[in-house]
Amino acid sequence: MPTLVIVGAQWGDEAKGKLVDVLSTEADFVVRFSGGNNAGHTVIVGDDVFKFHLLPAGILYPHVTAVLGAGMVVCPVSLLEEIDRTKAMRPGLGKLVVSSAAHVVFPYHRLLDQLEEEARGKNKIGTTSRGIGPAYTDKVQRTGIRMGEFVDPPVFRERLGEVLAVKNKLLAMFGHPPLDFESLFAEYNAYAERMAPHVASCEGMLQDAVRNGQKVMFEGAQGTFLDLDHGTYPYVTSSHPIAGGACLGTGIGPRDIGSVLGVCKSYATRVGSGPFPTELLDDTGDRIREQGHEYGTTTGRPRRCGWMDLVALKHSCRVNSMSGLVITRIDVLSGFDRIRFATKYEVQGSESTSFPVCTHEWEQVQPVYEEMAGWGGNISGARTWEDLPSEARDYVRRIEEFTETPAAILSIGPDRSETIVLRPDLVWG
Ligand code: GDP
Ligand code: IMO
Ligand code: MG
Repeated sequence: MPTLVIVGAQWGDEAKGKLVDVLSTEADFVVRFSGGNNAGHTVIVGDDVFKFHLLPAGILYPHVTAVLGAGMVVCPVSLLEEIDRTKAMRPGLGKLVVSSAAHVVFPYHRLLDQLEEEARGKNKIGTTSRGIGPAYTDKVQRTGIRMGEFVDPPVFRERLGEVLAVKNKLLAMFGHPPLDFESLFAEYNAYAERMAPHVASCEGMLQDAVRNGQKVMFEGAQGTFLDLDHGTYPYVTSSHPIAGGACLGTGIGPRDIGSVLGVCKSYATRVGSGPFPTELLDDTGDRIREQGHEYGTTTGRPRRCGWMDLVALKHSCRVNSMSGLVITRIDVLSGFDRIRFATKYEVQGSESTSFPVCTHEWEQVQPVYEEMAGWGGNISGARTWEDLPSEARDYVRRIEEFTETPAAILSIGPDRSETIVLRPDLVWG
């Protein structure tokens, strides 16, 4: 079955965007299924740098139909700006369809995201301030406004009136002045008019595509350890970035998923607060950040950097029932004499190989490292397995062995060409 889920195997920013772009040459559909413009997916084509927050990276190919699925929360301002910006760089984009079941992000979501973070003080999550959590809260409370309602002006007017009355009470609790209904409606109704041609009930279209053997790729956002249920709660996002989220967020059933590729860096990074046992708060961490230019695509924040955590990665392989791993940024580790990676945790004097559930358990975790010889030189010119230094190959083999998951693709630079496909058979199911 030619369906493929690309999922973040760590804490996000693993280079999912690059992978989706590389593999989109063959795709008929590229579908985002979770999150919103908290995502920042970079695609580099020659001298052009595209930073996608809502548009699926596959939209750069005119033959691709790009879909924003039901599981997403969509900020119309951000989406329309992104469409304009991307069209200015590439006039011939693929077609865009937005599910009428996706939820709309409004200014009160962004305001509440910021006000709630301030109120959390030292326990702040470190969100992207894009209103993602409050928009999903409305969805779960069954008060959210969906795309299908948004693009129908009388329905939108009624729903917004209902919801804004409550939101203004909430804003008042934080000491914030109310938002004016008429100006908010007028501004957003204008966005809705521009969005309307893209909004459709697209679940049947995707189900038919799968039945007809077309190639459907699901573009994950965020990463496994940011999953609401399976991540490091409460330091997570409010949706389901794991592979199972591709079913929830699109209406495709689990037996229709052919392959799952988990994208991981050859080390680890995290933005925002929360557990990160292998974080390096020293010169080595700074060196990884500088060699890897580890600054957020969405917020520009410096990313926390550390060694690879194989205990966590193995958990990720299982949670996502991964067909294969895509190991990225192997070039960034060039020049380190020794490469370290955690293969166990020490928890209160005992060794453990399981992924803790609660924050207080994470606080007791100390990583236990193995190490291997590093490699030097610029490896971005490698195009085959044999071109890589033997130490880099040994490292990849150790990751495969520990996680019991084959490496399907290696990435040794941001450009499309800086990619080595080891297992083409694992790419489309
Ligand atoms: P995403 O959110 O998973 O799509 O990842 P981001 O785009 O936020 O961050 C990944 C960054 O790594 C981007 O700046 C990419 O251009 C860059 N990148 C992708 N693959 C590689 C690679 O193999 N090596 C290096 N050095 N950079 C890469
Ligand atoms: P991509 O798709 C990295 C993090 C935030 C914060 C937490 C909750 O580019 O990999 P939110 O705004 O979602 O409520 O923030 O999740 N986060 C990401 N970190 N990459 C992302 O997306 C992220 N999206 C959210 O930093 O810790
Ligand atoms: Mg990113």
